[in-house]
Amino acid sequence: MRLDRFLSLHGFSSRKQAKKIVRDGRIQIDGVVCMDYTRSIDGTNKVFFDGKEIENLPYVTLMMNKPEGYQSSMIDERYPSVMNLVPDQYRKRVRLVGRLDSDTTGLLLLTDNGILNSRLANPKHGVPKTYEVLVNHILRPDLAERCKEPLDIGRGEIAHVDELEVLDESHARITVHEGKYHEIKRIFGKFGYDVLELKRIRLGPLSLGDLEKGQCRLLTEEEYDSLLSLVRLAKKDLL
Ligand code: URA
Repeated sequence: MRLDRFLSLHGFSSRKQAKKIVRDGRIQIDGVVCMDYTRSIDGTNKVFFDGKEIENLPYVTLMMNKPEGYQSSMIDERYPSVMNLVPDQYRKRVRLVGRLDSDTTGLLLLTDNGILNSRLANPKHGVPKTYEVLVNHILRPDLAERCKEPLDIGRGEIAHVDELEVLDESHARITVHEGKYHEIKRIFGKFGYDVLELKRIRLGPLSLGDLEKGQCRLLTEEEYDSLLSLVRLAKKDLL
C-alpha cells in the first residue's frame, strides 16, 4: 500500500494532509526518515509519526457491542451509523460484517479483510449466531420442540433453528445459522410473540463477553484465527 494511503487510513484526515506530513519529514519508516509519499509499505514495516509508532496491522477486525438506536450502515440515515462508534484510527478501514436491526444490540463484527467478510456472509459457511430474546408474553413450554421443525416464516422463506432454550417466562436463547432478514423477529412472530429486546451474544467462535455497550475492541489473535478456520481460510491465503 502507498504511504499516503496508509497514513490516511490510519487517522490522518486526508491524502493531502498525509502528503504534507511526509514532505515535512515527520514520517520515519524502519528508523529512516521517508519524504516520498508514493513509497510502498507492507505489514512488515514499522512506521513512525513524530517518533511515535503507528500501529501497522495487516488486517483490522473489530467486535462492537452495538447499542440500540444505531443503524448498521456506513453513513447516518434514519439513525446514526454504527461507524460513529468505531475508533478514529480504524473508521476508514473497516466494513460491516452483516447487519443488526437498529433496535437490536450486541455483537457486531467489522473488518477490512474482504475475503473473510464475504465468507462470513456466505450462507454456505452457515456461521452460527446466538441471540437472547425478550418477548411480550409467556413463552409456551413446547416452543423448543416446535423449533426443531423447519419453520415457515412467510414470504416463501423457511427458517431452521439450531437450538432454542427457554430461559424463563419471557426470555429465550436461540441459535440460527442462515441470517435471513429479520429472522429472529419472524421466528417468534410465527408463534404470536413480539420481540421486545434482541441481543446477539455469539457469532461463530466469538462471544460478546463483558464488552460495554457502544464499545469496540480488536479481536485477539486467537479469536481471529478461530474465525479464519471457521470459514476455512488460512493466513497464507490472505497474503
Ligand atoms: N434477527 C432479527 O430479527 N433482527 C436482527 O437484528 C438480527 C436477527
